[in-house]
Amino acid sequence: MARTPVGVLISGGGSNLQALIDAAADPAYPAEIVLVISNRADAYGLERAAKAGIATRVIDHKGFAERASFDAELDAALRGAGCGIVCLAGFMRVFTPGFVEGWSGRMLNIHPSLLPSFKGLHVQRQALEAGVKIAGCTVHLVTPDLDDGPIIEQAAVPVLDDDDEATLSARILEQEHRIYPRALAALAAGRIRIEGRRARSA
Ligand code: GAR
Repeated sequence: MARTPVGVLISGGGSNLQALIDAAADPAYPAEIVLVISNRADAYGLERAAKAGIATRVIDHKGFAERASFDAELDAALRGAGCGIVCLAGFMRVFTPGFVEGWSGRMLNIHPSLLPSFKGLHVQRQALEAGVKIAGCTVHLVTPDLDDGPIIEQAAVPVLDDDDEATLSARILEQEHRIYPRALAALAAGRIRIEGRRARSA
């Protein structure tokens, strides 16, 4: 079976990247991570990738005057590595519509809320402030609108009375590590069918 080459974009610790690396260590997994790109040179995820023998690149957004030229550099690196799918794993930059459209149906994001609730930044804090009793995470296909796009997987966790941002984030993160590899496997294996806003798994 040919495995789909995947590029993973990170900005930080890369625990979701690690979950994808671990899943892809199984030769039967339908995707193979071929490149990890970080916009920050100090992202710990780069070490995780190197330890797994995966090629890494640092493309620092601060080196580009415009968003479009940063995105063009990302795009060239991903295509140069032969990537068929891009996974955003804690990548904290907003893209230009042109870049997103070039990867339409082939770019996944993990977001630490039950979308469409709580978009943007500090969403675990937003959930606590809203007083919800159930929180969670979402893997979705990326569209030009922020934290939008067909939902591939979600997982819910309880919000406990004594939770703070750290404890709730940790409980959600555990579920992120479970659903991201599942979602990538489904996309890489061609099992996702899009109908309107709905993604169905065949
Ligand atoms: C994760 O919680 C991920 O869902 C979130 O950043 C964290 C990265 O952790 N992403 C976003 O908020 C994107 N809007 P990690 O580097 O350990 O995977």
